[in-house]
Amino acid sequence: MRTSLCEQLGIEYPIVGFTPSEHVAAAISRAGGLGVLGCVRFNDPAELSDVLDWLDENTDGKPYGIDVVMPSTAPTEGSVGDLAGLVPQRHREWVDRTLTSLGVPPLPDGDADDDGVLGWLHSVARAHVDIALAHRPALIANALGSPPKDVIDRAHAQGILVAALAGRADHARRQVADGVDIVVAQGYEAGGHTGEIASMVLLPEVVDAVGDQVPVLGAGGIGCGRQAAAALALGASGVWMGSAWLIAEEYTLGGQGQTSVRRALLGATSADTVRSRIYSGKPARLVKSRWTQAWAAPDAPEPLPMPLQNLLVGAAHRRIAAADDPEVVAMPVGQVVGRMNSVRPVADIMADLVREADETIAALGKLL
Ligand SMILES: Cc1cc2nc3c(=O)[nH]c(=O)nc-3n(C[C@H](O)[C@H](O)[C@H](O)COP(=O)(O)O)c2cc1C
Repeated sequence: MRTSLCEQLGIEYPIVGFTPSEHVAAAISRAGGLGVLGCVRFNDPAELSDVLDWLDENTDGKPYGIDVVMPSTAPTEGSVGDLAGLVPQRHREWVDRTLTSLGVPPLPDGDADDDGVLGWLHSVARAHVDIALAHRPALIANALGSPPKDVIDRAHAQGILVAALAGRADHARRQVADGVDIVVAQGYEAGGHTGEIASMVLLPEVVDAVGDQVPVLGAGGIGCGRQAAAALALGASGVWMGSAWLIAEEYTLGGQGQTSVRRALLGATSADTVRSRIYSGKPARLVKSRWTQAWAAPDAPEPLPMPLQNLLVGAAHRRIAAADDPEVVAMPVGQVVGRMNSVRPVADIMADLVREADETIAALGKLL
């Protein structure tokens, strides 16, 4: 399983793995793919610097990437103080009442005033980019459209490739015009922020739109080698996967909430996800739980726009994690969760993906 992407990125297999965990990212790169570290969780950019130092030392000299969240359309500027004041009291009261009714206890004193995720404020994401540029990523990806032009230019000046996630062919066209080097065509099935077009339809559309100019990676709904081979058949130069690594043995993020999240993911079927604005204010796919159900009830308020919604639910997410109840979790995951049924090391997940993709491609050659 080799494509031109392997040469371009200096990797063995055309498999890119997005993950919020540096341990998983390093293991993906060591296993021959490209581990891409999600930076949005680093409210304190200094912490990211330490983590990238660690990645530089733990990837055996293999390339890795980083991912920032710079929404190209949503206004995500402002200080936390200003923004927190825009969260309606009615919403705060509903969240509090709902957590109580779900049996989620309050956090111990002093822990309650969590800021939520700040990494999607441009000011914070820019700090992530500055820190990344002081390290040695091979790729900088942006989750929500093209990054700003100066970010693209600075990455290029250091020989770093720029990728962007696209949920529509016209978005992909715009990204390539902006100077993006790799487009990730991410279908509706995907975990996290996602659009409305399924991968089977989206991927050939994006390949037809920009595939003669840049490599296109297939994302959304890829959890095994047959799905990876299908993405190549649809014209992709490689795959970009997020959900599958969440149950990797190396994924230890989330501390006390880890047990419940892992149990919820291992027990979920492909029908057990929901696309909703409750996580960040933009549509994102999450595993269904009593928390997502509560937001679908008639008494629930409309989720707020990004970035206010996550300021509203930031402390709630920490309370939920601390409660460690597999029926009440707040976790992005895609429809491939249905085949995420055992905890295995990244190297095993990667070896199976490559073996099954190779077998599938060979079998297709013999089919006709
Ligand atoms: C837990 C989780 C968090 C995610 N966070 C981000 C993010 O911060 N930035 C980003 O570009 N994509 C993010 N994504 C989307 C992934 O990059 C990827 O496109 C998606 O997971 C692919 O679909 P799949 O889940 O079917 O593999 C996230 C996905 C998951 C499951």
